[in-house]
Amino acid sequence: MSILIENVSKRFGTFEALDHINLEIKTNSLVALVGGSGSGKSTLLRIIAGLEKPTEGRIWLAGQDSVSLSIQEREIGFVFQNYALFAHMTVSENIGFGLTLRNIPRPRVETRVQQLLHLIQLEGFAKSYPAQLSGGQRQRVALARALATEPKVLLLDEPFGALDIKVRKELRSWLRTLHGRLSVTTLFVTHDHREAIEVAHEIILFDGGRVKQVSHPKEMISSLQGVAKEPLHHLR
Ligand SMILES: Nc1ncnc2c1ncn2[C@@H]1O[C@H](COP(=O)(O)OP(=O)(O)O)[C@@H](O)[C@H]1O
Ligand SMILES: [Mg+2]
Repeated sequence: MSILIENVSKRFGTFEALDHINLEIKTNSLVALVGGSGSGKSTLLRIIAGLEKPTEGRIWLAGQDSVSLSIQEREIGFVFQNYALFAHMTVSENIGFGLTLRNIPRPRVETRVQQLLHLIQLEGFAKSYPAQLSGGQRQRVALARALATEPKVLLLDEPFGALDIKVRKELRSWLRTLHGRLSVTTLFVTHDHREAIEVAHEIILFDGGRVKQVSHPKEMISSLQGVAKEPLHHLR
C-alpha cells in the first residue's frame, strides 16, 4: 500500500510540530525517517496510524483519503520502543492477541501464530512469558504481534532504541531480510543516521517539523562523511 502525505501540518497550540509535509512512500518500500529529538517523526507516524489528526492536509492510503478511516480500517501495524508486551500473556498469546480480538477462530489463530513464530525464529518460546526473553527477543515478538493481522503498512518508531548496540545491529539486518520476504510498506523511525543507512532503501531527514532532505543511503553516506569521525563506507 502506498502512502501519500499531502501538505500535512500539525500544531499543538501555537507550536508547529509538522510544517506542510509532502512525501510519497511507495508500496512495499522500506523507508527511514531520521531527525533529532522533537523534529516531528513520531507525530507523523501517529497521524499516519490515525492516532492523531493533522491540523491541515491529508494522508492518502493506497489512493484513498484516510480521513474517514478508523485505526482498524487502515490496516497498519506498529511497534514502538516502549510498546510493551502483555506481561501476563505467553509469547503465543501476545502474537495472537489482535486476531483473537477480531474473533478469528482459534485454529486459524494458532496456525498464524506458528507461522509468525517461525518468521521471528522463536519457535521454542511459544509458551514463554515476556520476562523470560531478552530485549531483542521481545522486540521480535512485538514485531510478530504487529504483523499478525497482515497489515499493509508497518510503522516502527525507534523499535531498537532501548537495546544494546550488538543486538541492534543483529535486528537491523534481520529487519531488512524480513522486509524482503513480506509485502509490507515499512516506515522506520530512528534518530541514528547509521541505523537508517543500514536498514532503509530511502532516507527522509526531518528537521524542526520539516523535510530537510530525501536521499538514498549512498548519498546519505557521502553527506555524512564530511562530519563523521571515522569512515562510513563500510555500512553498505
Ligand atoms: N500531544 C502533544 N502536545 C504538545 N506537544 C506535543 C505533543 N506531541 C508532540 N509534541 C511536540 O511536538 C514536537 C515533535 O514531537 P515528536 O513528533 O514526538 O518528535 P520526535 O519523534 O521527532 O522526537 C516535540 O517538540 C513535542 O514536544
Ligand atoms: Mg519520537
